[in-house]
Amino acid sequence: MSLRAPKGTDDILPPASRVWRRLLNAWEQMAEVYGYDLIMVPIFEMTEVFSRGVGESSEVVQKQMYTFDDKGGRSLTLRPEGTAGVVRAFLQAGAQGVMKVSYSGPMFRYERPQAGRRRQFYQVGLEYLGSPEPDADAEVIELGYRYLTSAGVPDVTVRLNSLGDAACRPAYVEILRSWLEDRRSLLCADSQQTLDLNPMRVLDCKICADVVAEAPSPVDSLCDACQAHFASVQERLVADGVRYLLDPRLVRGLDYYTRTAFEYVGSALDSAQTALGGGGRYDGLAEVLGGPPVPGVGLALGIDRIVLSVPDPELPAIDVFVANTDTRRAEALLMLGELRSSGIRSDNLPDQRSLKAQFKAADRRGARAVVVVGDEWETGQVVVKRLDDGSQETIAREEIATWLKSH
Ligand code: HAM
Repeated sequence: MSLRAPKGTDDILPPASRVWRRLLNAWEQMAEVYGYDLIMVPIFEMTEVFSRGVGESSEVVQKQMYTFDDKGGRSLTLRPEGTAGVVRAFLQAGAQGVMKVSYSGPMFRYERPQAGRRRQFYQVGLEYLGSPEPDADAEVIELGYRYLTSAGVPDVTVRLNSLGDAACRPAYVEILRSWLEDRRSLLCADSQQTLDLNPMRVLDCKICADVVAEAPSPVDSLCDACQAHFASVQERLVADGVRYLLDPRLVRGLDYYTRTAFEYVGSALDSAQTALGGGGRYDGLAEVLGGPPVPGVGLALGIDRIVLSVPDPELPAIDVFVANTDTRRAEALLMLGELRSSGIRSDNLPDQRSLKAQFKAADRRGARAVVVVGDEWETGQVVVKRLDDGSQETIAREEIATWLKSH
């Protein structure tokens, strides 16, 4: 077939999609347990939301946005990330006080595709709006850490830094600018350009990593308030048992961060795609978008990369397959209905086939057991066969759910 999915996008089909569903369900559950409500915002926004929100000097805005004019001549952009849209929605709704929200969905960045770096990729994320407190930062970081750990990512570590705020960052940026100016000729062409726009961005350049290794770090220029905030965040992380490392070079790829910035890494991915997620505090973002000041902190995790980092356990699609002998299809459908009503993941074939074909299908779907509906139905019984050891029993049909739980 000549029609193919666009470069850098993926079709996620079974059985691979079973891991995705497990990860997305686990995210929904965890966000809810920590008190985050659901938020849903458009997948495209007025381009300004991102050019102002994410920042003109960021690589995302400069090179990676899917921007187009709609038929009414408005410039729209497929969201490259979730935070700017969520803050825009909060401001538009005239919301006040604290709002804790989580989201998930595809994001779009025009990148050079490779494993773990896609043009359409899937993020789960959350935003804790309305609180300037370090406990909010720590909660967000801890939630992401627990999520990745319980998803099975090996050796999750948080890389942590503080980028200062409106009070102390301007002075730091000048110190950094003059340090980099002295080494301008050693920087790559792109970094020489970014140096004029936003010197901190240069710390993020992979090509210039050696040159900037000794550059002054934002943590050395923090004001007292930022220092105290950073210390409190770390105290809480220690108390919560979150494994973190200070990374004075971590600046993140988006311009809206103030104070706390962090990324999660695991041991399963190599090279450039090690960040499984990241986030930070963005106390100035609401004002940049034209609203009143609203402090906020949040994170986003990249599901495409997490899938590559967790063991592939060959998850079963269902628990139970319902098979039947030639004359018992109607009864088998009743049985199937009863199992599904008790919340047991179960299925059958759409048409009547031999028992052999039905067992084959059960195997393909990863079922643990096959319930065979045959003539025993007359006495209220069915045969249940375990697929792992081949053992089988004849039991009363209303005991099936209990049997399945105990086997
Ligand atoms: P980000 O670091 O740009 O942050 O993206 C978060 C995560 O999304 C990355 O760590 C990575 O796992 C995944 N990701 C990013 N780009 C790609 C790609 N091209 N292919 C596959 N995965 C990718 C944000 O997006 C911020 N909105 C996070 C945040 C929320 N900050 C505060 N609140």
